[in-house]
This record gives sequence, structure tokens and C-alpha cells, in this order.
Amino acid sequence: MRLGIIGGSGLATLEGLTDSEAETVTTPYGEPSAPLVSGRLGGLKVVFLPRHGKDHTVPPHKINYRANLYALRQSGVTHVIGVAAVGGITSRMAPQCLVLPDQLIDYTHGRAHTFFERDGEVVHVDFSFPYGRRLREWMKAAAVKAGVEVIDGGCYGCTQGPRLETAAEIRRMERDGCDLVGMTGMPEAALARELEMEYACLAVVVNWAAGKSDGIVSMSEIRAHLESGMARARKLLKGFASLDGVLSD
Ligand code: HPA
Repeated sequence: MRLGIIGGSGLATLEGLTDSEAETVTTPYGEPSAPLVSGRLGGLKVVFLPRHGKDHTVPPHKINYRANLYALRQSGVTHVIGVAAVGGITSRMAPQCLVLPDQLIDYTHGRAHTFFERDGEVVHVDFSFPYGRRLREWMKAAAVKAGVEVIDGGCYGCTQGPRLETAAEIRRMERDGCDLVGMTGMPEAALARELEMEYACLAVVVNWAAGKSDGIVSMSEIRAHLESGMARARKLLKGFASLDGVLSD
């Protein structure tokens, strides 16, 4: 396996990456959000890409998801962990939790969301279970190894952004079955599937979603939770790199 890590808000660089080398690449779909950084996390070779750019300048609806996924595939990546900051909707998804969602619902629109768009090309990929089963199992094992708690399962609802949701939208998402809300999980997961890369999401809850706390969603609260949540996400990723049986070449 060759692991790709897509970093989200609060994870623009992957500390602990050794022998790292940045490479500016291009794809038939344009430029990815940033140069790809290849290196070693523990014994594991990884390729890191911050989806909002290295200086966090690309908003969720403007990310070139196709270029990002295609660039990772081009560099030999077979498995992708997408790290994402999210809001918590259901009661167990409190700020600071790490979650490995097992389902998603896509509420986005107008994003370039497929590689299969040529006239006369009719391709339907199975997406019943959007997140890779083996990769999620490895991540659970990594969490145990790293001594960080992770919630196994949950439904990620992907909204368009960049604005946050209304309380009514969140109530609707909860009725739909969503546990978490974020802005970047799609089309990322579907594009990985189209390119036959196994994909899993490591969600870091950084706030209660709209209407789920007493007040409004505050950016200072998000920033505070983001820092400590991402520190635990990094720990889990290091645990992943030290798992026996995952490492190869
Ligand atoms: N909504 C959507 N995306 C998010 C949120 C939220 O509340 N928090 C972090 N990303």
C-alpha cells in the first residue's frame, strides 16, 4: 500500500514527516491545492496534500477535488485518509471527538464531482459503502495503539459552504440520519472510489452544529477545539504508521 493523507483545516502540514520532499505537479484536471509532500511517517512512506492549500487559502467549494485525487493516484497512492474538521449533530459527537464515519450524504452542488464525463461514457461505480472497510479497521487499530479514543461509525453530511448551516438545515440533516456535518467530504470520497483508491475519513469534531448548543457557532470555539483535536488526529496517524502488517516497501 501507499498511503496518501489529505489534511484539512488545522492540518496544513504533517509534523513528524521525515525525508520529506515537495513536488509541484499538474494533472489533466488542473493543479492540486498544493505541492505533494512525500516522506516517511515512522516506517511508512506517505504522500501528504493539504486540501485548502499550504497557507489555507482555498475554500471548500473552490477546491479542485479532481486534481487532488488524480495527483495522489499519479504519485502511486493506493489508500487515502482524508482528515476533516466537522460539526457535531448527534449527542455523542461532542467537540474534540475523533470519528471514523461509515456513511455519508451529499448535499453539495455544482462541484466537479466525477472523472466520467465524456460523451458516450456511462459508468456507474458502486458507492453503497463509501469508506474503505480495511482502512477503517486499520485506523481503529491505530487509535488503540496510539491511545486515542475514536468513535467507530457515523454518517457524515457534506454541505456546500462556505457559510455554516441554519439550525433548520441541521435539524433536517439529523432527520436524514446525519451525525456530523462538514464541507469537504464530497466529492473527495467518490472521486477516490472512481480512481479505485481505498478512502477513509478521520473526522475531528470542532463545534456543535448550528442550533445544537445554546449560542451561535463561534470561530474562537472552533479554533480552540481544532488545535487539540488535530493534535490527537496526528497521534492516531503516527499510530497508523507503526502498525504491523500495514507497512510495505
Ligand atoms: N458545518 C459545516 N462544516 C463544518 C462545521 C459545521 O458546523 N464545523 C467544521 N466544519
